[in-house]
Amino acid sequence: MTTLAVMVHTQISLPPIGFGTVHLDGAAGVEAITSAIHTGYRLIDTAYNYENEGAVGLAVRTSGVPREELMVTSKLPGRYQEFDLARTHIEESLYRLGLDHLDLLLIHWPNPRKGLYVEAWKALIDARERGLVRNIGVSNFLPEHIDRLRAETGELPAVNQVELHPHFPQVDLVEWHREHGIATEAWSPLGSGRGLLSEPLLGEIGKKYGVGPGEIVLAWHHARGIVPIPRSTNPQRQRSNLEAVTITLDDADVAAITGLGRPDGRIKNQDPAIYEEF
Ligand SMILES: NC(=O)c1ccc[n+]([C@@H]2O[C@H](COP(=O)([O-])OP(=O)(O)OC[C@H]3O[C@@H](n4cnc5c(N)ncnc54)[C@H](OP(=O)(O)O)[C@@H]3O)[C@@H](O)[C@H]2O)c1
Repeated sequence: MTTLAVMVHTQISLPPIGFGTVHLDGAAGVEAITSAIHTGYRLIDTAYNYENEGAVGLAVRTSGVPREELMVTSKLPGRYQEFDLARTHIEESLYRLGLDHLDLLLIHWPNPRKGLYVEAWKALIDARERGLVRNIGVSNFLPEHIDRLRAETGELPAVNQVELHPHFPQVDLVEWHREHGIATEAWSPLGSGRGLLSEPLLGEIGKKYGVGPGEIVLAWHHARGIVPIPRSTNPQRQRSNLEAVTITLDDADVAAITGLGRPDGRIKNQDPAIYEEF
């Protein structure tokens, strides 16, 4: 496993790439996740709302890879942000996974209009104190939300998992995370199969390095010190994606790919300041 190209001083040590599991459920999901673990992925990303913690837990428990070598992440949904509900449903996540602890637990969305994300954060701190969770973080949080967590609890998240790909490169947020020692994870790092990989620039740069556009995008994340969590059901793509973080892109190529970004580049216009997910 390689280390991050750009060293980030964070509270947590993460593998350079993880495996996304949304839509991977049932027997086919268990097969895809098991294949990913056997290919070498050590960071597995799920969420209560993906309704596949059962499949993820089964793959983790039967993979043959020692539990301590795997980092299992889940996420607390918006409908359970009240302290007592959060407490109960963190326990429920573990029952569904069939595991005695999570390596990383995130608040899935801030849902700022509901105004409960600080209460949820206190429940994550409590879960860590109870030994149910090793590390805690957030997802889809803006700096103003993280500032509030710190002001009211004195504690910063180890990770912020956000939408991030060449159409939405989040340059300012990544820099803000770096200044605050927060690791950045990228969700939908390949643009979630919605046309990003057809960008001619990615094909041209790919020819130079002898790889496809998907690998170029993952190498771009790595060059920026970001941990992408791509999903693939295809064993060949699982392998080539994992190996992509060993590719070192020229600075000019990194800058050119970042240049594909646009203010409205989000896949589904989910702005965490107003978007709500429960
Ligand atoms: N925190 C949040 O709010 C949030 C939101 C969305 C997603 N996520 C997490 O982020 C993970 C990744 O995002 P995502 O699943 O939306 O999409 P993604 O990883 O950006 O893209 C997955 C799609 O790309 C294809 N693909 C994978 N590798 C490829 C390659 N090298 N070349 C061409 N196509 C390739 C896959 O097809 P094949 O299966 O056929 O390879 C699949 O259709 C999720 O699974 C989930 O764990 C978190």
